[in-house]
Amino acid sequence: MTAPRIVEMKRKGEAIAVLTAYDYPTARIADEAGAEILLVGDSLGTVVLGYENTLPVTMEDMLHHTRAVMRAKPAALVVADMPFLSYQVSDEQAILNAGRFIQEGGADAVKLEGGERVTGAIRRMVAAGIPVMGHLGLTPQSVLAFGGYKVQARGEADQERLVREAGLLQNSGCFALVLEGIPARLGAQVTRALAIPTIGIGAGVGCDGQVLVSHDLLGLFLGHQPKFVRRYAAVGDVMREAFAHYVADVKARRFPSDAESY
Ligand code: KIV
Repeated sequence: MTAPRIVEMKRKGEAIAVLTAYDYPTARIADEAGAEILLVGDSLGTVVLGYENTLPVTMEDMLHHTRAVMRAKPAALVVADMPFLSYQVSDEQAILNAGRFIQEGGADAVKLEGGERVTGAIRRMVAAGIPVMGHLGLTPQSVLAFGGYKVQARGEADQERLVREAGLLQNSGCFALVLEGIPARLGAQVTRALAIPTIGIGAGVGCDGQVLVSHDLLGLFLGHQPKFVRRYAAVGDVMREAFAHYVADVKARRFPSDAESY
């Protein structure tokens, strides 16, 4: 999978399925399931590392997990999420960090959050040959400024700004745009206005594709579940039951059996 092919999928009206992956087995399984894009999201911080939000996630954390995903040699496009403060300080630092995801992580593309304020960095990355995915709406790295995980762009002025910034990101060279936590009608409006695909998460069915955090859809995340999450499995319950069964077997000396011994 390539970034131009993702853009072509929009032209052909094909829906784009995106899953997050942070490790080797998840990347293999999500790839086998047919997802076109694997996002090594900085949601890593909340669903894997146990942080309250994504702000403590570092470049080293993200590179470590991007490499693990790349070892699965997925057919899907692998997009590495740029963590907080890895692209906001200066355009120079932004392009160097984006380059690390390509050179050291082996990723196919990077994603970063924000509108007008990040277009300079995006232009530099695109000029250097790095495919970039944008991210607008409820951008989690701004959770402190938003005062919580609240649906964004409910008012007319904010909606106009989001539509304008989506156009700016497209003109800066983004090959796709994540729209998170915005009214469904606005998600559809932005999707119609752009030639590049929109990938929605809590942005309605009118987007060109959808992304969910794998741990949310698997029922493996123990924290708050936003309204837009559909749970496709209860993997956390399966794990708890299996672990409890194992613990009971060990205590009752039912494990290991002769067949499981040398
Ligand atoms: O970090 C992440 O998983 C993301 C998705 C929610 C889009 O940015």
